[in-house]
Amino acid sequence: MNLVKMVVLAVAVFVMLSSCAVGYSGSTNSTELNVWSMENQPMAEQLAAVFKEMESLKCEQTTLWKQQKALTQMQNTSQEKRAEEEVAGTHVLSYGPMKMNDDEEDLDLSEEDLRRRGDPCYHYTILDQAWRATNATTKFKVCDRHSKWKGWYRLFYKGMSLQMPERCVPVDKCGTHSPLWLAGPHPKMKDGIVTRRVCGHWKKNCCAFKSTPIQVKKCKGNYYVYKFTQPSACYLAYCADVNTIVCGRCSRDQTCVSRDKINWRCKRNRRKFSKKIHFFASYPDQLSGKVNRIKYSKVLVNVGRAFNRRTGVFKAPVNGIYQFFFSTQTGRTGAKTDLWLVVNRYWVAVSHTHVSRPSTVGSLSMYMTFLRRGAIVYVTHNCGRSWANSASTTITFGGSLLVQMR
Ligand SMILES: *[C@@H]1O[C@H](CO)[C@@H](O)[C@H](O)[C@H]1NC(C)=O
Ligand SMILES: *[C@@H]1O[C@H](CO)[C@@H](O)[C@H](O)[C@H]1NC(C)=O
Repeated sequence: MNLVKMVVLAVAVFVMLSSCAVGYSGSTNSTELNVWSMENQPMAEQLAAVFKEMESLKCEQTTLWKQQKALTQMQNTSQEKRAEEEVAGTHVLSYGPMKMNDDEEDLDLSEEDLRRRGDPCYHYTILDQAWRATNATTKFKVCDRHSKWKGWYRLFYKGMSLQMPERCVPVDKCGTHSPLWLAGPHPKMKDGIVTRRVCGHWKKNCCAFKSTPIQVKKCKGNYYVYKFTQPSACYLAYCADVNTIVCGRCSRDQTCVSRDKINWRCKRNRRKFSKKIHFFASYPDQLSGKVNRIKYSKVLVNVGRAFNRRTGVFKAPVNGIYQFFFSTQTGRTGAKTDLWLVVNRYWVAVSHTHVSRPSTVGSLSMYMTFLRRGAIVYVTHNCGRSWANSASTTITFGGSLLVQMR
């Protein structure tokens, strides 16, 4: 951001503060409410425009930084690839800076980037070597001790994602004498990076070789990354379990499960019981006398879309405990002003103000209740006068689902 913008911003903030102060002192002397007069609007809009521009500059910067990072990484991985191929003498692919979860939103690029930077789920080498398969029988035998391991790896079999076996594998499989298997369950997403023992099967002993432990992490999209290290002896090699190919096809809301660690299947995750409902709306004008249902037309928040801006009615989408609030600012001396919260046509809570001196009073009321799905909630203006303008947010109605229930 350049200096000119900084100055504009500072001036804008100063003008807003001073105009607010003037408005406040004025209101104590007269019955007219002029906190937030319309004159303030253009400045507020200007301020918003400056903020917008700041955000877009930030965004541009992030994009450039991202591109640069991707290029550097591509260069690095191709170098690594060559080095790996020389050492291992096998087919090793490298994972470039492509996006793995395309249904993920890019709302906050910089934050997401920072999170990914150290996350092995986004920085791994693909190990697609058919001879590692648990059903492979090869003439040659490989010893992973001869490979130079660096960083994280993801196992593939002919382009299909799969995982290490969690069971003893017969000898002379996986392109080696003593196949290495994971002596412990794969971690869950919430476990993060875990350390697991690795066993090599030899002469009827499933853990004849207690090889160097490795690190494992579960990634979004039902796959795992492994931090392989040099095994303790030869001929040992890390296995890729062909029975787990099915796991690579599980969808986002499924988990790959197995009882015998031989037959695997995708199982639907239990539905998360946490619907999000939040709304906040305001009425941008003055009200007087009886208004059956206040049509709060200015909607600031409507997560879950349970509030209808056309009718001013909130309709509970699920069973649960809800909390509501509604507010007003009385508009004229001497008038009694009543607003009622109406739940399923019952008047349940009132916001009552009665000011006799030349003054004005703000009022906020809350209500919490259990609602069944389909319940209807709105606010009625029963009598008196309420003051608001398009910028004041004084006549408001809002609420949240606190806990969803069956
Ligand atoms: C690329 O490699 C260089 C030196 O090997 C290293 O300093 C740099 O951090 C690496 N960049 C990335 C994005 O991995
Ligand atoms: C190993 O399993 C894969 C996947 O099920 C299959 O395509 C392949 O033919 C099998 N190989 C052998 C040698 O049985």
